[in-house]
Amino acid sequence: MSKRIGSFAVNGKKRDTIIEPHMLLVDVIRDSLGLTGTKRACASGNCGACTVLADGQPVCSCLTLAVCSQDKALETVEGLRAADGTLHPLQQAFIEHCAAQCGYCTAGMLMTSKALLDANPRPSREDVKRALSGNICRCTGYVKIIDAVLDAAQKINAAREVAA
Ligand code: FES
Ligand code: FES
Repeated sequence: MSKRIGSFAVNGKKRDTIIEPHMLLVDVIRDSLGLTGTKRACASGNCGACTVLADGQPVCSCLTLAVCSQDKALETVEGLRAADGTLHPLQQAFIEHCAAQCGYCTAGMLMTSKALLDANPRPSREDVKRALSGNICRCTGYVKIIDAVLDAAQKINAAREVAA
């Protein structure tokens, strides 16, 4: 296997690490870059736990070759929090709505939801259900998660209106 330096733009920072052609993005993110918020579960594209954003689009990092991600702006759950430590409204809403239990699905849920709210700031309940249809939660159930996403959308929009 030919090892080489891979360069990744993750959460707005350039990160270099040694990669091999067969390496999956989830493994580079977790094991090489130490961003263990992203979870590996089914490893077959069926659960969404490994979801990260690539150029703003949710991707299953367990199905994505790391070498193909070097020209993309990658976002992981670690990038959601503001520089001063303030949680993203989605993170805050997940806490307030008890939308996580074991938390294994949570990073993927948050990243898929962020992509939704970035593209559609005022989603309907159906929009949220559709967006999260590829993300599986084994313990919390979906009502609280959907409530949290809708609440976060409302708070983000209210903050934008105050700032305008
Ligand atoms: S771990 Fe990637 S979709 Fe399940
Ligand atoms: S909170 Fe446990 S899998 Fe979703």
